[in-house]
Amino acid sequence: MSTTIPNATDQNPLTGLDQWDDFVEGRYREGKSQEEFRQYDKAAQPGVAEFYRLNHENQTVAFVLEKEKEYYSLQKGMKSIWEAAEFLNTMVDDSDPDTDLTQIEHLLQTSEAIRRDGHPRWMVLAGFLHDLGKCLCLYGEPQWAVVGDTFPVGCAWSPDIVYHEYFANNPDRNVPEYQTKYGIYEPNCGLDKLHMSFSHDGYIAEVMKPYLNIEALSMLRYHSFYPWHKHGAYDYLANEQDRAMLPWVLKFNQYDLYSKGHTKPDVRALKPYYDDLFAEFLPASLAW
Ligand SMILES: [Fe+2]
Ligand SMILES: [Fe+2]
Repeated sequence: MSTTIPNATDQNPLTGLDQWDDFVEGRYREGKSQEEFRQYDKAAQPGVAEFYRLNHENQTVAFVLEKEKEYYSLQKGMKSIWEAAEFLNTMVDDSDPDTDLTQIEHLLQTSEAIRRDGHPRWMVLAGFLHDLGKCLCLYGEPQWAVVGDTFPVGCAWSPDIVYHEYFANNPDRNVPEYQTKYGIYEPNCGLDKLHMSFSHDGYIAEVMKPYLNIEALSMLRYHSFYPWHKHGAYDYLANEQDRAMLPWVLKFNQYDLYSKGHTKPDVRALKPYYDDLFAEFLPASLAW
């Protein structure tokens, strides 16, 4: 049974979740400034611009707190990693279902590229896990609450957030406390104190919190926090530990952005390696 991601509704302007990944990859390709890419993109991919409009208008403090309450208590049932991956696989990208890789194949491409380069096993694991939180779509969340660049809510939006102008219609614009540099936070309080815009990143980090080291958790939690890891924004909310984690997040980002290809990983052949890897770090079944 498969679930097709709804599109062409005002809630889901992307033709598929991968469209956002492709957009980000193109945005950071060499030789194109952010502004150039954005101008190009607005015309070429109106769905992406519309996606960011919905994201920036709806990711408010109230929305984020509500979603954290709903999902961070992990009440969606127990699943093994393979079960979670199979569940995610029921989501078919209807932009091109015949040629696109399945969700599991995408995860394996990332983790296998990390493994090939000889990185530690916990990082290979982080590669496999990092997008499992996209199952939020299957729980009924709209795309703008699942993918996209993340940013803290409750403080001034950095100009480094792409399509920044769409924050003009975010209701938090009218809450003076949320519009100051530090907002509801203390200077250099540490990124883990922030309420980040709701997405698959924060959700998977919550699921994995009891089991992984801080490096792997930072990769999961901040992999879409482009304003921070690519542009250096929000450093005034980060602490020394976050700065120590930044090189790991950046290292991970290379694999997230550029490991995509059209060679299908052989899931069956790789399974024994991943069975061992999951058993090394994780219980047989986890709360989601
Ligand atoms: Fe992701
Ligand atoms: Fe990814």
